[in-house]
Amino acid sequence: MKFNKAIVTSGPTREWIDPVRYISNASSGKMGYHIVNELQKWIPNTVYIYGNVLEKYKEYQGLKKQVETTLEMLNAILEELQDNTLIIMAAAPADFRPQDYVENKIKKTSEENYSLNLVQNPDILATVSQEVINRNYKSVHKIGFAAETNNLDENAREKIMKKGLDYIIANYVGREKGFGEAESSVKIISTDGIQIQIENQSKEEISIQIVNFLRLKFDS
Ligand code: PMT
Repeated sequence: MKFNKAIVTSGPTREWIDPVRYISNASSGKMGYHIVNELQKWIPNTVYIYGNVLEKYKEYQGLKKQVETTLEMLNAILEELQDNTLIIMAAAPADFRPQDYVENKIKKTSEENYSLNLVQNPDILATVSQEVINRNYKSVHKIGFAAETNNLDENAREKIMKKGLDYIIANYVGREKGFGEAESSVKIISTDGIQIQIENQSKEEISIQIVNFLRLKFDS
């Protein structure tokens, strides 16, 4: 199969509470950065859509778009989406956003606790799957990541179905695992089970192996 285009997402999104505070997560953008730079060797028309990644993980010699929130990431993907596209979602979009944005910095007025009402963000991959049907596209393939703290295989397999994926790349995450500069271990999983397992490798090496795997699966 020859893809006309690929989209790779990377990094965390930010959901602002007030002008100085936001909800986010520990993603640095490293995984997505290595994937996009590796994937472009196979699919030259690869677009890089990233959230608040570290400065060094913005480097890419192709079309790139920076976004802030999960809704912005979704819209950027929908703008770039065409038939015959491969999407790899290495980003860690925030699943929730504050219901209301507070215009001025929230003050600590008393000893009372402060409660934040959160609403759910759309699931980007599931929305893209629906949009592919709406637009009558024939060949959009989606690869997700599963960031789990427990029950890795089981939770990852559930996400394949829920989000309409070809493969999911499952990794354990925690304060010293999965995010940032640390080495990582991943499993590429399909509905048929584990395809390959990559133990304790740099994210650069993991990205090479992921792209080689996909190339073998889709090119033959
Ligand atoms: O950036 P690094 O520091 O290198 O860290 C890499 C990583 C840990 C962020 C990366 O390897 C990873 O696991 N990315 C996925 C993080 C995540 O959001 O996992 P999830 O299990 O919550 O989501 C499953 C999939 O759905 C992911 O592909 C995610 O991008 C996507 N998603 C999530 C939320 C949302 N609202 N819409 C989505 O499409």
